[in-house]
Amino acid sequence: MAIIAPSILSADFYELGKQIQQIERSGAGLIHFDVMDGVFVPNISFGAPVLRALEGKTDLRFDIHLMIEDPGKLIPDFIGSRTEYIVVHQEACIHLHRVLQQIRQVGIKAGVALNPATPVSTLDWVFEDLDLVCIMGVNPGFGGQRFIPQSRRKVEELDRIRRERGLSFKIELDGGVTLDNALGIRQAGCDILVAGSAVFSSPDIEEATRKFAKLLK
Ligand code: DX5
Ligand code: ZN
Repeated sequence: MAIIAPSILSADFYELGKQIQQIERSGAGLIHFDVMDGVFVPNISFGAPVLRALEGKTDLRFDIHLMIEDPGKLIPDFIGSRTEYIVVHQEACIHLHRVLQQIRQVGIKAGVALNPATPVSTLDWVFEDLDLVCIMGVNPGFGGQRFIPQSRRKVEELDRIRRERGLSFKIELDGGVTLDNALGIRQAGCDILVAGSAVFSSPDIEEATRKFAKLLK
């Protein structure tokens, strides 16, 4: 069984509260927050105030994807009552192991995201120290891009490593997920599929979420 984590990057910010209620009642498993700093990625999105605004307003838990340089400095801002995962980029951390420890020390699950050109082997020495690996299905920075097909093979590789080493970290895929490719990604071993535009740019947000939830069950 896998879950769908809609990314609010593609939501209508004027209607954010209403759209959160819509995904919540139609089977979303987590809310995915795309935090971008305009340095690590060529775009700026939003930060911790948006997370604060939603805390206490939803029963869904938060999956925080930090697309920012030197994320260790800002981790305290994203600790909250609903924070389930904080995910940092391998490419943005000089001291990745330390950052993972920093996240786990406050009782939050620690994740690492890999850009399309970054091999899975870069995590060889931290697999024991993380709770989630996020494979990027697009180059981070924007919603609505096309899925890079090799990402699926990365999910398979991770799933194999997880089994061989007897580990239980979750595998997430973020970027380019649609109703057409979701099942194949799940079959590759993915547990959490992030979808931005396929949920929030759809004419019926609830129906799109429901379809993903059903497909991934
Ligand atoms: C990409 C973000 C993704 C993105 C997904 O930089 O990390 O979470 O919002 O959007 P879609 O599903 O439209 O590719
Ligand atoms: Zn993301």
